[in-house]
Amino acid sequence: MNNKLQTINDVLSIVPARRLQGEVSVPGDKSISHRAIILASIAEGTSIIRGIQRGKDCLATLKILKMMGVETEGKGDDLIIYGKGPTGLKEPRDVLDCENSGTTMRLLTGLLSAQNFYSVLTGDSSLRKRPMGRVIEPLRKMGAQIFAREKGRFPPLSIIGRHLQGIDYSSPIPSAQVKTCLFLAGLYAKGNTSVTEKYRSRDHTERMLKFLGADIEVNNLKVRVKGGASLSGGELRVPGDISAAAFFIGGAAILKGSRLKVLNVGLNPTRRGFIDVLLGMGAHIKILNLRKKCGEEIGDIEVRGRGDLKGTLIEGDLIPRLIDEIPMLVVVGCFAKGQTLIKDARELRVKETDRIKAMSVELRKMGAQIKEKEDGMVIEGVKELRGAECNSYKDHRIAMALAIASLCARGKSKILDMECIETSFPGFEEILKKVVV
Ligand code: S3P
Repeated sequence: MNNKLQTINDVLSIVPARRLQGEVSVPGDKSISHRAIILASIAEGTSIIRGIQRGKDCLATLKILKMMGVETEGKGDDLIIYGKGPTGLKEPRDVLDCENSGTTMRLLTGLLSAQNFYSVLTGDSSLRKRPMGRVIEPLRKMGAQIFAREKGRFPPLSIIGRHLQGIDYSSPIPSAQVKTCLFLAGLYAKGNTSVTEKYRSRDHTERMLKFLGADIEVNNLKVRVKGGASLSGGELRVPGDISAAAFFIGGAAILKGSRLKVLNVGLNPTRRGFIDVLLGMGAHIKILNLRKKCGEEIGDIEVRGRGDLKGTLIEGDLIPRLIDEIPMLVVVGCFAKGQTLIKDARELRVKETDRIKAMSVELRKMGAQIKEKEDGMVIEGVKELRGAECNSYKDHRIAMALAIASLCARGKSKILDMECIETSFPGFEEILKKVVV
């Protein structure tokens, strides 16, 4: 039995690992799972979603759709959804709880704005602090009627569904949640809805809409959806989540002597910034068995740790391609030679927690040299980190990044409030134990 990691009373105790070794699979992609649940629910006919992720965020989306009459079946990795068609959802009898999930709230705000009923969306204390103006403002331009706290900026949201009108929207922030929200509303709107971004955010929605038969046109940074088209359910396959795989890949790249393979990982170009950056830092990574399933690239990722990483610059159009992997990249930066500079990442301040602050404060406890900037961080590589007692801020990605940092440090560590990992990665500790040597 592996005793390098142990959770008691929600506190993870970690002793350093020598290396990561073996083969692992990670849960299904969270972004794709949310989209599959929502689109299958409003499609005509039955869909089977293979490899669905059952973390708390995706289950919150599923529960909400069930409250609107969607019927589902299946356990484990497969989920059958009996599509209601575009107008088949029913008015929910209670407030819809998005829990910790920004994706659930922002995507469903678009969908619910176009239904012929009233609904209220809320979430936990973290989600109720997250900005919703970014979806409410453009939806109002489409004719949506949405009320929210602090002059339409924060949840709970109260929505009176209406007929909407398509718009051409230039999004001030590259955000797949904003884009997807507007496309979900746009499917019901009169005319076309287009979203133009400065940098391309993840494009899973575009790919899945195309796969399910929507009328969608991608023209570089502008994507247009035609209103009124209905979707046809079918078989959807969810690849492994690169954002979950990143913790293992990053750990193996840091720990000299590691040899790790992560199987069936989604490698959509709008999501694989983490791999591209690690390759640029000198990591020994190979992509094997690259293939395409249901419109998404999938491959196996092989990593060898040689302890020879060098610092890098992460900015601009790279940011949306690795936004969720930045906590782990900060850890990798601590073990690289020289400086790693992260810029243009202000969005991190409004994630589940302020991730710039959280990673800077916690890794400094371990001896890291990190300077906080308004839109990023300056990380100076150090010879080693030392074990410490750290806070997760109840943010799943902070918790997992700190767990890997602790495995790569010298001396024992403790990380508080580990339950939050269930948000996106059920089974994280067990899977990690299999490869920690
Ligand atoms: C997501 C988009 C990203 C990402 C989030 C999931 C999605 O957020 O950080 O974890 O599924 O669309 P933004 O759209 O706010 O950048």
